[in-house]
Amino acid sequence: MGFKNPPSQEQKITPEQIKAIEDMPVEPWEKVELLLVKLGIKKATDFDLVSAGWSESLGEPKDEIDFNQLKMIEKSLDKLGLVYEIMPTKVENFKLYNTYKLAEDITEEDGESYKWKKKQIRLAGDKENLLRLNKAINKGDDEALGELYAFPETAIEAYKKTEEGDNCLLSFEELPEDVRNQEWINFLTFRLSKDNWKNEIETVKKWARVVKEKSPKIYKEYLDFKRFDFEGWLKEEILLPESDRSEKFKEYINEKDYELRSYQEKEHSYNENEKVKEIFGRYVQDLNLDLEQLRGKKILDLGCGGGEFVVECIKRGITKDIYGFDLELEGLALNEKYKHHFRTANFNDDFPFNNCDYIISYGAVFLDDKENWIKILNNALKSLKDEGEIRIFPIKKAGPDSDLEGIKKEEEVTKRVLSGLENDWAMEWELKPIDIKVAGYDKDVWLEQVLIVRKKGER
Ligand SMILES: C[S@@+](CC[C@H](N)C(=O)[O-])C[C@H]1O[C@@H](n2cnc3c(N)ncnc32)[C@H](O)[C@@H]1O
Repeated sequence: MGFKNPPSQEQKITPEQIKAIEDMPVEPWEKVELLLVKLGIKKATDFDLVSAGWSESLGEPKDEIDFNQLKMIEKSLDKLGLVYEIMPTKVENFKLYNTYKLAEDITEEDGESYKWKKKQIRLAGDKENLLRLNKAINKGDDEALGELYAFPETAIEAYKKTEEGDNCLLSFEELPEDVRNQEWINFLTFRLSKDNWKNEIETVKKWARVVKEKSPKIYKEYLDFKRFDFEGWLKEEILLPESDRSEKFKEYINEKDYELRSYQEKEHSYNENEKVKEIFGRYVQDLNLDLEQLRGKKILDLGCGGGEFVVECIKRGITKDIYGFDLELEGLALNEKYKHHFRTANFNDDFPFNNCDYIISYGAVFLDDKENWIKILNNALKSLKDEGEIRIFPIKKAGPDSDLEGIKKEEEVTKRVLSGLENDWAMEWELKPIDIKVAGYDKDVWLEQVLIVRKKGER
């Protein structure tokens, strides 16, 4: 008795061929795919080489595909004995949305049109599968593609049914936590089905196991990439002397510099309504707020300025129990309709609102004076419910050879003030990195963090 459909035989791979994949100038997930195709576990795969983007309206010069990189890839593919096809270069359009607005508030006008050049590389273990891959891509046949990529049959079926309107797919969040925390789950590249996910994850485990066994180097590179800890990376890089910073971080500084400049130019063209959405978006992003958690809660905004965040929370139905105060109220905060939500007050004095779930502050608390800092945090802790939370942005941090002396002291003063407060208050606190800021001709750079204090009670 034989198998009607014999399980695919794993193909041989030599140590030289493994090294050729390890050294290829492609992304880590592409190395994983190449290894699995070479081993015959997957029948085919495809990936793109892209140029940098350019904006014609900003008069930026076109960029080209890196042909040296392409040559090196071709050489390695020849060494691997894979069959492949390099598709003609295409120019594609995309939009870059440089805005703080929440995704649902973004409109077409927020986007700048960019172009880039793209070359697709299609490859397979043999000619027949390359032909099938070409056909499947050209027809947009997801079922055939799923089969070539070796996705489990039940997952392909569930994907097809979902496209036809019957949702049979499991979201990642629906997986049990112990599965989500496994190392091998990072190798999941298809959608699991609700009915058969337990069997389907066996495929994922196998991919992870094979990659780890054949090339621990690719396995590690891939996992490092998947688990890239952006916040940890920022914190690590900012603490290094400039000369020791990675190329990647230097590139990121340039990107941020460019992004902030183009954002500032665009900001002027916003009307009042769009400005409010921007302010709301930057509060959510930089204070790292979860809007679901804020629902129905009592919130206080220190130094609320024009009161945009307060009014938006009311208008969006997040909570009606939200207030703000400022030394000098302006704009929306002076509107008769919202007057019960605002007061003129100084946050160095007792706060005019109590028993809050959240006390937040954006760009208003200055940390140069330790005594003031203690007063503000004490006042905030007094006006907070037990289990309530304070969030203050930004607490800045500069590198060791930065000459931004004021900023260099901010984190240290904050830490000292907080350890002092721990004598009077039961609380937990953390400084969570949000992003870097770049300013000035010399591209001064610093890290911006949100201070989160959770009150447990009074001591
Ligand atoms: C840069 S604005 C930020 C406004 C608003 N939070 C935002 O992000 O759009 C700083 C605000 O803090 C207010 N402020 C500064 N010191 C204050 C104090 N001691 N008490 C109350 N408000 C203060 C200022 O009046 C100003 O409106």
